[in-house]
Amino acid sequence: MVEQTFVALKPDTVQRGLIGEILKRFENAGLKISGLKMRWVTKDFAKQHYKSHVKKAFYNGLEKFITEGPVIAMVVEGVCAVETVRKIVGSTEPKTAAPGTIRGDFAHHSYNYTDKKKIAIKNLIHASENKKEAQYEIGLWFTDDEIHKYKTTHEKHTQ
Ligand code: CDP
Ligand code: MG
Repeated sequence: MVEQTFVALKPDTVQRGLIGEILKRFENAGLKISGLKMRWVTKDFAKQHYKSHVKKAFYNGLEKFITEGPVIAMVVEGVCAVETVRKIVGSTEPKTAAPGTIRGDFAHHSYNYTDKKKIAIKNLIHASENKKEAQYEIGLWFTDDEIHKYKTTHEKHTQ
């Protein structure tokens, strides 16, 4: 049940000075940060990370967005971490993302607006959608020795 997922705080989060604010939401939920680093994504790396989106109409805008500044990459661990993290992140479009979620609280743009302008929807954060994607993305972004094993207080309390 305890699993790892991959999270990236996108360039808009870093540029807006929201790293701490957003990271805090995962810590508040008792999730463990097992790996953490800053990386400036290249176009080649973006194509590997977003391999399922490369041929889509929105990909050019997405590539421009994800390569425009450094991102914070994280491995987040916990019970049903993939699903729990996606719940905290909220749905892809900030306009319809529920209040209380990261995308619902810190952004508001709609697909209608960004698609017309041919830009990416700036939604602050990436999180793996399922276990298979999480496994692929963790392997792409992190080496084994960059992922750490330690006990959080939350784990000690539930033992
Ligand atoms: O990030 P998430 O898994 O929620 O959504 P996705 O469907 O995997 O799309 C990846 C990213 O592409 C989104 O988070 C948006 O930043 C961007 N996107 C976009 O700019 N315009 C769209 N019409 C769809 C996605
Ligand atoms: Mg996705």
